[in-house]
Amino acid sequence: MAGRISRRGLITGGAATAAGALGSAAVIGALDTPSAVASGEPAGPVVEPFHGVHQAGVATAPQAHAVFVAFDLLPGTGREALGRLMPLLTDDARRLTQGRPALADTEPELATDPARLTVTFGFGPGLFAAAKVDSPVQALPAFETDKLRREWSGGDLLVQICADDALTVAHALRMIVKDARSFAKVRWTQRGFRRSAHLGVQGHTQRNLMGQLDGTVNPTDLDRAVWIDQGADWLRGGTTLVLRRIRMELETWDAADRVAREFTIGRRLDTGAPLTGRAERDEPNFERVNRLGFPVISEYAHIRRARTADPAARILRRPYNYDEGLSKDGTSDSGLLFASYQADVERQFVPVQRRLAEGDLLNEWVTPIGSAVFAIPPGCTPEGWIGDGLLA
Ligand code: HEM
Repeated sequence: MAGRISRRGLITGGAATAAGALGSAAVIGALDTPSAVASGEPAGPVVEPFHGVHQAGVATAPQAHAVFVAFDLLPGTGREALGRLMPLLTDDARRLTQGRPALADTEPELATDPARLTVTFGFGPGLFAAAKVDSPVQALPAFETDKLRREWSGGDLLVQICADDALTVAHALRMIVKDARSFAKVRWTQRGFRRSAHLGVQGHTQRNLMGQLDGTVNPTDLDRAVWIDQGADWLRGGTTLVLRRIRMELETWDAADRVAREFTIGRRLDTGAPLTGRAERDEPNFERVNRLGFPVISEYAHIRRARTADPAARILRRPYNYDEGLSKDGTSDSGLLFASYQADVERQFVPVQRRLAEGDLLNEWVTPIGSAVFAIPPGCTPEGWIGDGLLA
């Protein structure tokens, strides 16, 4: 690791290690300390732990940049070949996340500041078929609002790469793709971003491209909501990821007035407070009616339709914005890489998505155009590799 370790590096690096070791929900938001930036001190290398009960990149406070890459396994890549591929990719991840070059790294200088790099692996239904074992995950059922495109859907093997620096992400992606080449070919890559790390203010939720505070209500008990603690041994401590690519119609959204936009979600745009409250964290009051007797938060407001009564069954949303530039007429191709982690897709994700597809005011402006589901194996020890419980 480079010698340039600042006070911030020490403090946040230490916090990351402690939180990672605990593997707890406490990690979220714990790293948003902007003190060093505010004092003008250069941010030093900040390292997220790689080894542990859980893989990093799920409970980790979201980094500013992400790329999700899905591979299709080449014909002939079965269980035995996967048992060679995963140790290789794990080794890349182990080194790069800790600020060390990958083996045979062609640009080793790019590895010295990992910028909170995390590399997270996921297994899609096709990987289980190739390994000849029952898949714990299946593609989602079709929803009425879906306009799914193959180019953004499916995949046998997922690698999620996140860091606070886009160059770090690009380098890690390149190393991983190189090492996967003889086993798999790239099916899609999806890039996303959030607010730059140095703009992060502790306790604030990120904004998406519609201008909303996005990420207010997330589970607090990750042991119940996110980490798998039953079923196959090899998956315990793991989770599942549903990645939906959701296009936003920003031109028509811009045409809606503020009242309509806030009514659509059920929250205020400025503070993120529910329409029945004052502050972002106030509990929405779904019973309250206005002078005419209509609910203040509409029956079809996004937060009412998306709400799960049991907080322990909530999904963990860790979304990234995407913005792929402009078409010739100046309209943008943008939206959300909606990344949702939960212990059980059927029980937690599907009912929410179904309610949204059946009636959500937001549907007028958003369309799911990609969908993929992966099992995220647990973390590994320094001697092990991701997926060893299944493939070793
Ligand atoms: C582009 C698409 C979407 C946008 C712009 C969006 C935006 C928002 C916003 C602004 C909130 C309120 C603040 C918060 O709690 O984060 C919210 C809440 C929520 N959204 Fe979405 N969302 C989208 C898609 C989805 C999808 C596809 C799902 C799940 C299938 C979902 C599930 C939820 C849940 C569970 C909540 C919390 C509800 C509660 O208060 O309990 N959202 N979303």
